[in-house]
Amino acid sequence: MTGKIRLGFVGCGAFVQNFIPLFKAHPYVEWVAVTDLIRERRDETAKKHGVTRVYDSFEDMLKDPEINAVGIFTQRQLHGPMTIAALKAGKNVYSAVPMASKVEEIHQIVDLVRETGLTFSMGETGHYRPCSVFCRNKMSSGEMGDFVYGAAQYHHDMRHFYKSYMRSGGADWKKVAGIPPTLYPTHSTGMLLSSIGSYAVKVSGFGFVDHHEDDIFGEGKNLWDNPFSNTTMIMRLKNGGTARANEFRRISWYGPQSYITSIYGTKASYEFSVTEHHYVRLEGMDAVHENVSKLLNPPEMEEHRGEEGFLNGVTNNKWCNTMAPVQNAGRLPAEFIDQRDGHGGTHKFMVDDFCKAAYTGKLSPTNAWVAARYNLPGLVAYQSALRDGEPLEVPDCGEPPANWEWLDLVDYSPEYL
Ligand SMILES: NC(=O)c1ccc[n+]([C@@H]2O[C@H](COP(=O)([O-])OP(=O)(O)OC[C@H]3O[C@@H](n4cnc5c(N)ncnc54)[C@H](O)[C@@H]3O)[C@@H](O)[C@H]2O)c1
Repeated sequence: MTGKIRLGFVGCGAFVQNFIPLFKAHPYVEWVAVTDLIRERRDETAKKHGVTRVYDSFEDMLKDPEINAVGIFTQRQLHGPMTIAALKAGKNVYSAVPMASKVEEIHQIVDLVRETGLTFSMGETGHYRPCSVFCRNKMSSGEMGDFVYGAAQYHHDMRHFYKSYMRSGGADWKKVAGIPPTLYPTHSTGMLLSSIGSYAVKVSGFGFVDHHEDDIFGEGKNLWDNPFSNTTMIMRLKNGGTARANEFRRISWYGPQSYITSIYGTKASYEFSVTEHHYVRLEGMDAVHENVSKLLNPPEMEEHRGEEGFLNGVTNNKWCNTMAPVQNAGRLPAEFIDQRDGHGGTHKFMVDDFCKAAYTGKLSPTNAWVAARYNLPGLVAYQSALRDGEPLEVPDCGEPPANWEWLDLVDYSPEYL
């Protein structure tokens, strides 16, 4: 790309409010713009953040030759077609998750990125969660040996979602709230697959048929006629290991919401529960245990350990937005220091990845090929769940072109290596 990033945000709902300040602050960004179907929401957002341009529609935004990138923050089922339209219009794309909710859309996005050389970067928080950063480093260094089994989940009970679906869904909000959980699979798969360094070749999905009186799931109740509020994916991975990912939307649990329960290797393993992160290596016949909680929990949480109500605070999602020591804040631009973060201290990394990738033309860590591997198992798992868990092949888009250089970024805080 020549020159700095001039990025238009499509979708001025809740989530983007955390991202406009970050993009604006990034040294590779010249200016930002917004659009939303809801005019008042768009105008309020434009005023709140002081954006440079405001468009009446996404189509108008794409027609502006000075816009060279878009940030997609619309509802989850809309991302695929919008990314395709943006790439066809010659724009680099940052997309909130998921990448797309149809297999064909994912293939088309990968093809378009390959043909155009444009940046696509998916903002998957799971890629940068402290547990993922830790396990990825330990797995890729060889310290954990061969991967055997891993398990992760994104638990988000529907009662905590009502307000956010109502915000844009109006009277029809349940039609979108009933989206099959594994059409939004990347919080669990992103943590697992980025840690393990492999991808799913086969998946079985097992669905929980929902009978709750809020009437969100079931035939005729949502855009997909989806009956499942919870789905478990069992994945056979390319490296011969097995992984289990849960995407649950009806579950008696609140926080932590996205976490890896376990990654077992032949030489070392990681396990987690509520606030406790354990790492165990085998040395001869002996196990060497290390409690790595202080490395993987944010200091703002650790400083309350031992206080009355500490665990109740954690299970109510207190102290869950800032970085842990393991995350390499040092790779981020100085302009980010005073900016707010979110989702386990991951927002700044996702924005930095996109900006550095689009500006330099190098590949983001969550480029189209990686994003496809995080998304596709979930889309196939839904089909499998409709067939009572029949194992199905997961299509693969392969690797990025060998001559496309990756950004050289260190996620693990060098201080603790
Ligand atoms: N942890 C995470 O990664 C995380 C967390 C929250 C949200 N998200 C994702 O971020 C996205 C946005 O979430 P949200 O809670 O802000 O949603 P929201 O419903 O509050 O906002 C979406 C906005 O998009 C607008 N929109 C839809 N179609 C449009 C179009 N054609 N042109 C212009 N505007 C359009 C809507 O009017 C609405 O204002 C979702 O896809 C969600 O999955 C990710």
